[in-house]
Amino acid sequence: MVATSTTAATYSTAGTVSSPLDLDAVRGEYSAVSLENGNGDGTGIGGANGTGKRRTVRPKPKVTLTSLTVNNSGTLRKLNSVVIPIVYSEKFYKDVLDPSLDDINKLIYYADIPVGACCCRFENLASSSKEKPPTLVILTLAVLAPYRSQGLGRALLLNALRSALHPTAPPPLLPPDGKGKGGITVVARKAVTRAMAHVQVGNEDAKRFYERLGFKATETIDDYYSKMEPRGAVLMVCDDIASALGEAPNGSA
Ligand SMILES: CC(C)(COP(=O)(O)OP(=O)(O)OC[C@H]1O[C@@H](n2cnc3c(N)ncnc32)[C@H](O)[C@@H]1OP(=O)(O)O)[C@@H](O)C(=O)NCCC(=O)NCCS
Repeated sequence: MVATSTTAATYSTAGTVSSPLDLDAVRGEYSAVSLENGNGDGTGIGGANGTGKRRTVRPKPKVTLTSLTVNNSGTLRKLNSVVIPIVYSEKFYKDVLDPSLDDINKLIYYADIPVGACCCRFENLASSSKEKPPTLVILTLAVLAPYRSQGLGRALLLNALRSALHPTAPPPLLPPDGKGKGGITVVARKAVTRAMAHVQVGNEDAKRFYERLGFKATETIDDYYSKMEPRGAVLMVCDDIASALGEAPNGSA
């Protein structure tokens, strides 16, 4: 998570786009939940069929990613304030609604409950220098504690990484008269192959979480956070998003 935000907002928000997610696809090695019969006589949990055999239950909650809009901005603020001990500015919440980030910045809903969010920006997007390569910067990634360890954080991050590598043009913006004619088309970004995130020193869970997705700790920045202790941040960098996603470097599967 970053302490501050510097990108200037250029336009307002695009519409909401929801996409159902298959959690199995993001869970990877994790599979079904097994419930054993408690007493072995076929009458307890798992013994509903009277056989006492092991029963496998696979809960399938609906999980969706939804674009950020002015209408759900309050939900994003609430989630961030509950999970992250940093108060983000009005500018932060305006910038993350930038339509060019529509495919990246998402809320995640679990059984129709908003339980997490990911906010990013791009740095050096127009740069061709090796020292300052175009980079996806993860500003905030938050999942409510009761909903963690189910692959929701991973789903948010994978969506951001995939969208950075394979950008899609957002829907055209309506002109001020709202009638649809002459809408402004936002040009798709170029593919970005590098990502980074700041993790507070001592937040080993988040560090491991990023490492599992191909990020490496590169340096520790002292006094990165001004309003929380410890103040240091570990800079986590993924130099090859395609590899992290298991894709060939040219983007083919
Ligand atoms: C970091 C954070 C977003 C991760 O969210 P999450 O939803 O728990 O993430 P995931 O479920 O995808 O992965 C978390 C762990 O659960 C494990 N996991 C994922 N699906 C699982 C499943 N079905 N069953 C069991 N474990 C599972 C993952 O392997 C991972 O383990 P690891 O930490 O050893 O790598 C969340 O912990 C959080 O909001 N933390 C506070 C804010 C923060 O630190 N943000 C990061 C800095 S910006």
